[in-house]
Amino acid sequence: MMRIGSIINGEEVKGENREVLTVLNPYNQEVVAEVVLAVVEDLDKAIEQSFEFFHQTMKKMPAYQRSDILRKTADLLAERKETFAEMVTKEAGKPLKYSRGEVERSIQVLRFASEHAKQISSEVIPMDAAIGGENRLGITKREPLGVVAAITPFNFPLNLSLHKIAPAIAAGNTIIFKPAEKTPVSAYMLTRLFHEAGLPPGALNLVMGRGEVVGDPLVEHDMVHKVTFTGSLPVGRRIRERAGFKKVTLELGSNSPNLLFDDIEVEHVVTDLVKGAFVFSGQVCISAQRVYVHKSLYDSFLEEYIKQTEALNIGDPMEEATDFGPMISEEEAERAKLWIDDAVDKGAKVEIGGEQKGTILTPTIITNVKNDMKIIAEEVFAPIVSVLPFETEEEVVRMANDSIYGLQAGVFTKDISRAFRVADQLEMGGVWINEISTYRQDNHPYGGVKQSGIGKEGVKYAVEDMTEMKFIGVNLKDRL
Ligand code: SIN
Repeated sequence: MMRIGSIINGEEVKGENREVLTVLNPYNQEVVAEVVLAVVEDLDKAIEQSFEFFHQTMKKMPAYQRSDILRKTADLLAERKETFAEMVTKEAGKPLKYSRGEVERSIQVLRFASEHAKQISSEVIPMDAAIGGENRLGITKREPLGVVAAITPFNFPLNLSLHKIAPAIAAGNTIIFKPAEKTPVSAYMLTRLFHEAGLPPGALNLVMGRGEVVGDPLVEHDMVHKVTFTGSLPVGRRIRERAGFKKVTLELGSNSPNLLFDDIEVEHVVTDLVKGAFVFSGQVCISAQRVYVHKSLYDSFLEEYIKQTEALNIGDPMEEATDFGPMISEEEAERAKLWIDDAVDKGAKVEIGGEQKGTILTPTIITNVKNDMKIIAEEVFAPIVSVLPFETEEEVVRMANDSIYGLQAGVFTKDISRAFRVADQLEMGGVWINEISTYRQDNHPYGGVKQSGIGKEGVKYAVEDMTEMKFIGVNLKDRL
């Protein structure tokens, strides 16, 4: 039985009198590991050590060294790709082929961070643009912030953790890493990997504990300079309220829309949208939750969408052929099923799916959906997609924007003018043209507007949010 604990300054904390959490495989409920959870004293020690280490070492570490460590971590991860992928599948229930995809993306994120560490550059200000500014020089510098708290979700336990840890290292910060309670083992393996690649242990401390026990004090602590979080809107709001003057990056929920205009061929889009709505059982922030289809295509689209969804291979996520596996927990599957029932009570029609047994909720397509239904108004974070017809561009833009969220959208049309016109009008952090909302590349800016969050990720953009700009001015007149 694997028994792991937090890692503070390289030492594993497994002392007495600490709660032990059992990590279960969501598909078959087999025990994956036991985790000794941290207490608040462990957290305090980790933060103090991290703060010290930042001032003593990390902020002085040259860029080439930070870059080397990130590159070596990428190389090690590439060597152990299969071991990491299998662990993600075991503890998160993600089908193996998608876990492999996550590891591939994680390697790229590390490589992007390694490259960017050497390119954090600054600016010379034209000081003589101001009257009296002659004979002055002004420059900016980007400086690391200090201790970054990285609080990460279960759905991409490697890649979304790396979207915080890798830029933090590239910028020269130290990190307190608090992973999701459901997926602590891949976080543990990742932390060890960084240390093995040469990152001084004090630069990355792993603290595994419950949100109520260690999450709140972590966010509130005066020695923490930034909190970067991916997860739900309620938790994001709680973090924002408690973080005080710290910088925060919040990657929160979405009910991502996809808009299909009348000039497209549906077949390819349908295939992409099956994946877009049902990959990892819809537990993706940019999952295709709302699909708006022009009336002229609606019937043919729906028929094909149901047909291709029916063909998904549901089963053990460890099997190579599995397309669709469990949700993270039975409670989550039951919660999503209740949302379906609520919609049906209000007049919605389940076209396919909607059956829940244990952690499996079958891929569900719903029509006759109204805006007061939870399955459309809130982030569903489950394998449920609503298909709605529209007639005009104006109407579909209004429907897509009628949401508290605004993370990422997909627009499908052959008309390039319309594509950009609609992209301009959508209240989103990102819009893909002729691509599904669920597609993300790890080097583009990613982050929402409205209640989808604050700040951007994507290595270069995260580095901006993890550094402070300092101005240094010189009076060049010889007057001393
Ligand atoms: C997310 O669920 O927020 C991230 C999606 C992705 O990185 O593909």
